[in-house]
Amino acid sequence: MNGPSTSASVTSATAGPAPAGSTSACGGRAPAVAMLRLLAGFQVSQALYVVARAGVADVLAAGPRPVAEAASATGVRTDLLRRLVRTLAAEHVFAFDADQDTVGLGPLGHTLCSDTDDSLRDVALMWMDTHYAPFAGLWSTLHDGVPAAERELGKPLFDWIAEEPERVEGFSAAMGNLLALRQDALDSLDLRKVHHLVDIGGADGTALAALARRHEWLWGTVFDLPHVVAGAEPVLRAAGVTDRVGTWGGDFFESVPPGADAYLACFILHDWNDDQCAVILDRIRRAAGSRARLFLVETVVGEGAAPEVAALLDLTMMGMLNGRERSRADWRSLLSGAGFRLDRVVATNGPMCVIEATSL
Ligand SMILES: C[S@@+](CC[C@H](N)C(=O)[O-])C[C@H]1O[C@@H](n2cnc3c(N)ncnc32)[C@H](O)[C@@H]1O
Repeated sequence: MNGPSTSASVTSATAGPAPAGSTSACGGRAPAVAMLRLLAGFQVSQALYVVARAGVADVLAAGPRPVAEAASATGVRTDLLRRLVRTLAAEHVFAFDADQDTVGLGPLGHTLCSDTDDSLRDVALMWMDTHYAPFAGLWSTLHDGVPAAERELGKPLFDWIAEEPERVEGFSAAMGNLLALRQDALDSLDLRKVHHLVDIGGADGTALAALARRHEWLWGTVFDLPHVVAGAEPVLRAAGVTDRVGTWGGDFFESVPPGADAYLACFILHDWNDDQCAVILDRIRRAAGSRARLFLVETVVGEGAAPEVAALLDLTMMGMLNGRERSRADWRSLLSGAGFRLDRVVATNGPMCVIEATSL
């Protein structure tokens, strides 16, 4: 590594942009080391995937164990698991004790367990099974704008997912994991004057079930593609809200359930380009009539907590779909073009904002 070594004079610089070769923009690391870590991201992603798939974090949930025991409990090779946990210990996923040859969970490790509140295990599985290979085609996307996934899978992502029940299940499970990103925004929804809420692209109903449990006056409809919404029945039943929340299968490019006083589109429009969003918003506008409320839960570029999440999701949209993350000005113009007035943007403690609009 030939990068400059860390020196007090460089790391103590505070004013203005970091000079070229500075370590202050690199978490105290030499730029070449910091870059090498970024470039190695694809290997680390796969390492996280294989330990998630093997269930290594789950077998450590009760406490540290000898590496050999963790390997035999998960059916993998001890010598190779030892090397993986040593690498991932540097990323704070595991705590590896070389002297005792034991492994436990590091500060991030519980997020790879299957049943923690902030679990990302299903994201690890779905991203590596579905997103990883397409991203090798980002070079072509950069030139022709065709999402890398569409080229790799031979069709648009959601059409490909629809072909196999396991893909639908895996995608819904990953979306369930990512609910943690949206929880602050869902908690911030002002539903006091809402009677009937339609959740557009509501997947397996997890979000609407939670909202209905919290707001006992609320009636609701989970709307999604027919094969997706089929998975909502058990979720609504388990939440005990089937007397107030129903399901409706359909295609939001054709029509959405009419007559509700409010519509929610959580993490939906960022999947689509402006023309496609205009069609979806038009279908909602037609179904809603005038003076209905529309709540969008989305990132607003440059606003809200954790702006790095919007930057990462924008990359996901580029590689996998036609969508993108949008600024406040983008949202205003998209909404006004479809007959909605943007009322306000509510920042939350999470990376997502609530964009409130009214149909005109
Ligand atoms: C990114 S997920 C968001 C799910 C959910 N709102 C959430 O926040 O977890 C996008 C959802 O849009 C649904 N979807 C995609 N195309 C659709 C279409 N043409 N009509 C209705 N729903 C669609 C997908 O099935 C998926 O559940």
